[in-house]
Order: sequence, then C-alpha cells, then structure tokens
Amino acid sequence: MRDASLVVVASRLPINDAAASEGVFEWRRSPGGLGEALHPVLINTPATWIGWAGKPGPTPPLPDVDGVHLIPVELTDSDVRDHYEGFANSTLWPLYHDAVEPAVHHRRWWEAYQRVNQRYADHTARVAAHGAVVWVQDYHLQLMPAMLRAQRPDLRIGFFLHVPFPPPELFMQLPRRTELLRGMLGADLIGFQRTQAVHNFHQLAAKVLDTTVDERGVQVDGRVVYTGAFPVSIDTAEMEALASHDEVVEKAAKLRADLGGPRRVILSVDRLDYTKGIEHRLKAYRELLADGRLKVPETVLVQVAIPSRERVEQYRLLRDRVEREVGRINGDFGRLGVAAVHYLSQVFDRTELAALYRAADVMAVTPLRDGMNLVAKEYVAARVDGCGALLLSEFAGAAAELTQAYLVNPHDVEGLKDTLVEALEADPTEPTAQMAAMRAHVRDHDIQAWARSYLTALEAACAGR
Ligand code: F6P
Repeated sequence: MRDASLVVVASRLPINDAAASEGVFEWRRSPGGLGEALHPVLINTPATWIGWAGKPGPTPPLPDVDGVHLIPVELTDSDVRDHYEGFANSTLWPLYHDAVEPAVHHRRWWEAYQRVNQRYADHTARVAAHGAVVWVQDYHLQLMPAMLRAQRPDLRIGFFLHVPFPPPELFMQLPRRTELLRGMLGADLIGFQRTQAVHNFHQLAAKVLDTTVDERGVQVDGRVVYTGAFPVSIDTAEMEALASHDEVVEKAAKLRADLGGPRRVILSVDRLDYTKGIEHRLKAYRELLADGRLKVPETVLVQVAIPSRERVEQYRLLRDRVEREVGRINGDFGRLGVAAVHYLSQVFDRTELAALYRAADVMAVTPLRDGMNLVAKEYVAARVDGCGALLLSEFAGAAAELTQAYLVNPHDVEGLKDTLVEALEADPTEPTAQMAAMRAHVRDHDIQAWARSYLTALEAACAGR
C-alpha cells in the first residue's frame, strides 16, 4: 500500500467531526484554520492526508473528501488529554505565543507526545510511495520528521510551523528542547511564517546542538536542513468571488439592518483563544463607550468567538471572563433591543462570513501573538469594493505583509482606543489606497503561491541528496 506520492500529515484530518459522526463527510473550513488554508492546494490532487478524526477511539475507514484520500490516526482518551490538550496545547502553544499564559509542564505529557508522534510516523511510513513528498504540519508533530527519516530515508520530508517559533529565552525553558529541535531537523526543509522565526531557530540550533548554521539552514548529521520563511495565505480568488456574489451583498445589507442600521460596524472573528487579545479589545471598546468617544447604537461591535480546545482549563476560564465582560458591556451600554456587543460563539459558513466581512467598516484583528492570522487576509480579499479598514496587531504574522493596515500594539490600551477611533472616522464608503495595496498583496501572494514556493524549495533542498 506504499503508493501515496504526496502525503500531508497534520494533527487533525480536515473533516468536521460533528458532521462526520452523522455520516456526512465534508472538508472542515473553520476561519483561519489549517484545513481551510490547505483546501485549495489539495482538492482534486492525488494527495493523502494523515491525521486524527477529532474523536477519541477507533475510526472506521473514511471516504475520500474533495478528492483527497484520508487516513485516520487513532488517538485514545489519554492521547488526547496528554498529547493534544497537554503537551501540544498547554506546553508548546502558550510558550510559542510569548507565554501570554504560563506554559504547563508534566513529564507524562512528554511520553504521550513521543508516542503519538511515533504513531503518525508509522502510518506515514506505511503508505508513502518510494521518494514521496511528505509535508508535516505544525507544533503537534515536531518529533515526527526525525522519526520518519529513521524509517524511510528515501522520503522528501518537509515541515511547516504555522505558529510562531519563539525567541531562545522562551524556547530554552522547555525541558525537552534538544529532542524537539532534533525532531524538526529530520526534515529536508523547515518552513516558518516569518524571518524572525528562522533567526530564532538558527540561534537555538547553534546554541543547543552546537551545529553550523549558514544562510541555507542548519548542518546536521552531514546534511543541510534548509530553512526559510513562507508566509501562509488564503484562496484570494475564491473569497473575492464569494464576496462579489449578489447573495452576499444582500446578506451584508440585511446584517446591517438587523444590527439596527448603525453608522459604524466593528467586526472581530477569532477562535476563543487567549492569544487573540479578545479581552484587551473588549476593554478598549468599553472604555471608549464609557468616555463617550463611541456611542451605541451609532457604533456596534460584532464579536464572533469560535469555541476552541474547550477541555483545556485556560480556555474554559477565558470563555467565562470574555462572556462576563460582554454581559457587563451590554448591561452598562446597551438598551432594550440594542446591544453594544453582538457576541456569537458559533461557527459561520463561508457565505455568512463573507457577508460579515462586507458589512464591517472596521475589522479588528488584535492578537497578542499570532503565527499569521488568515482572517485579516480574508477580510482584505472580501473587500472587493476597496472600502473598509483593517485594525491589525503588529504581533500578528500578517502585519509583516499588510503594512498599510492600522497597526496597533494590543497591550497599549490607549493606543488601541485611539487607533480604533481613527479607523472608525474614515469614510467607509470611500475606497482607500491602503486597502488597494493590501488587496494587491493578497492577490499576488495567495495560498497557491505559498504552496508552490514551499514545494519548489523542498524539491531544491532534496535535489542534491
Ligand atoms: O493556528 C494553529 C492551529 O493549530 C490551526 O492549525 C488550527 O486550525 C487551529 O489552531 C485550531 O486547532 P485545533 O482545534 O486543532 O486545536
């Protein structure tokens, strides 16, 4: 069964677990997610995707989805608890995001991380054709490239980290830092979102492993592991087409009417995650209402907060805090039938999302740290009218590309307030040069260009082997 020539390996399969349990298998398209990003690259290619189906326990064989062959990796309850919720999302995730919440360390989580990485490597080794390209995704699987190489040195192995790669001071806190670096170095090419991450990785490899580093990458075991920055993107043409649709334009107008016909609509769309800066943003908004610089119902905030990692304590606590604060703002500044914050803790389909983007005068994307943030790019792509303003955190990877946005430091509440007011004061019916420049950028640097540049670099990295 070694016949797959392009294999993507990611923590999760790109299917919607809720729908799958009812026998409906569709590609999981959550805003800004990995499945969303890779969909246009893989549909109708002879690709195989290896990952977890989203529920603990055995998974029956799955049908192909959008032409992609799916191979489930089984995770037990304790794998989910100790690998996914534990090491991946309570140790690595917070540490890689500036430790905005403290990273938690447990030795049994490391055992699970190794065990699960080995399982993904074993599945991949079984199905990949001789010389196949295997593209490993993200921080859940950092040990896997080396585990796979040990079994299948014939493979061309790429690794891409979607999240930030932290500065040495933070990474050095990891008790298993050496093993994590060695695991990644099993790849032929390691891709990051930003050049800064490449520098961080080089510094760490030199310091922890005492290896030689040059502009190509890192030398290890007599080979060069190439490194580079490949900022991930979106299917720009698809979002443009969707946002131009009459149905979406009508929906956007209806949304504004349903919101009470405000003069200005602020929109945020986030996974409910402490890295997204939701609390900082709500605080800024509440103060602006309290100061009288913004007024309801003239201005309203629509906050879409998609539930995420709900069994991890930090996420449960965050949800409680956010919902309490939304309640407080509405209690203080809303009126009967008029909310100050329209809070929606649910997943939206692509059409509704496009309508929200078109309805919003200001899109506020203000994470404390984010690998990229594809929602920011989607908003820009959706503004086919050239209007709208993007308020963007300088700590999102997207800020390195969308430099014409209203850039903010989300920790600076006064700065956040002033810049939000400035963005709201712009005429929302007037196309701007800033939006035009950002739109040109996402058109030239779409997801297809990202995949092409990564896979071409991987081919080049393997050429001299
Ligand atoms: O942004 C990192 C990421 O892992 C994405 O790749 C993924 O789509 C999202 O977070 C949600 O992840 P999950 O629900 O698998 O924890």
